[in-house]
Amino acid sequence: MGRAFTAAPLLLLLGFLALGLGAATANVGDSCSTSADCGAGQWCFDCEPKFSGSHCVRSAATNPYQLINNSLPFNKYAYLTTHNSYAIVGEPSHTGIPRVTFDNQEDTVTDQLNNGVRALMLDTYDFKGDVWLCHSNGGKCNDFTAFEPALDTFKEIEAFLSSNPSEIVTIILEDYVNAPNGLTNVFNASGLLKYWFPVSKMPQNGQDWPLVSDMVASNQRLVVFTSIRSKQSSEGIAYQWNFMVENNCEAPTLQIFFFLLLWIAAKHHFYA
Ligand SMILES: *[C@@H]1O[C@H](CO)[C@@H](O)[C@H](O)[C@H]1NC(C)=O
Ligand SMILES: *[C@@H]1O[C@H](CO)[C@@H](O)[C@H](O)[C@H]1NC(C)=O
Repeated sequence: MGRAFTAAPLLLLLGFLALGLGAATANVGDSCSTSADCGAGQWCFDCEPKFSGSHCVRSAATNPYQLINNSLPFNKYAYLTTHNSYAIVGEPSHTGIPRVTFDNQEDTVTDQLNNGVRALMLDTYDFKGDVWLCHSNGGKCNDFTAFEPALDTFKEIEAFLSSNPSEIVTIILEDYVNAPNGLTNVFNASGLLKYWFPVSKMPQNGQDWPLVSDMVASNQRLVVFTSIRSKQSSEGIAYQWNFMVENNCEAPTLQIFFFLLLWIAAKHHFYA
């Protein structure tokens, strides 16, 4: 595990994921006082304020490609996703100004990936003549809302893909970058461009995605979606709602967290 423990929302998702996949579920969600009270692969964790009181939660996801095999279409698997993956507790200020914004995660991006996260939701902004990950509003990054240059996080993802040649990572951008080719330049500089899964291979009209085994064989193992529609034609970055649906799932005690249940090629998205 990393320097801090995995964020509770992540762990809860892991619990659901494991349940869905039929893995051991002993004690997940039960009250506990120490990790010794919990089953194997679990941790006793207290997430204030929404999920207060210590509960057994899972610490790493089961790899779906090992649970089944990797010869199904990419959309037939469930992928653990972290929201604001870059908004990490304890991330030092990179602007020299103390940060005043929300945190969402306790693992570094590297640790998230090593613990089984396969999709990262990142907010990208034009900032300081570069692209930064920022937890801001109004599409403008400030010194006190900035987390880090996107390049640093993209390099962590590149390192993971490089050392895990059978894994696929998806990046979902809440994108405020207006600089021409701003994102493409950072993807290129980070070394991620060589893993790029091209829009031309993404399915239209609800068809299945290519097989994971084929995506791995062709080394096209980075799937990127942007929230800016025009970038699909201008930069070849897939517009997310051409390819994804979102199930906006908000349990009363987990209002700020949501997760993506389905990856299907679809023209429309909808909210439950
Ligand atoms: C992979 O698993 C699926 C689902 O169980 C099965 O239908 C398929 O034959 C398997 N493929 C290989 C190559 O083992
Ligand atoms: C990526 O960077 C290299 C080296 O600077 C450059 O030659 C190439 O044109 C860049 N590719 C894109 C798509 O920007």
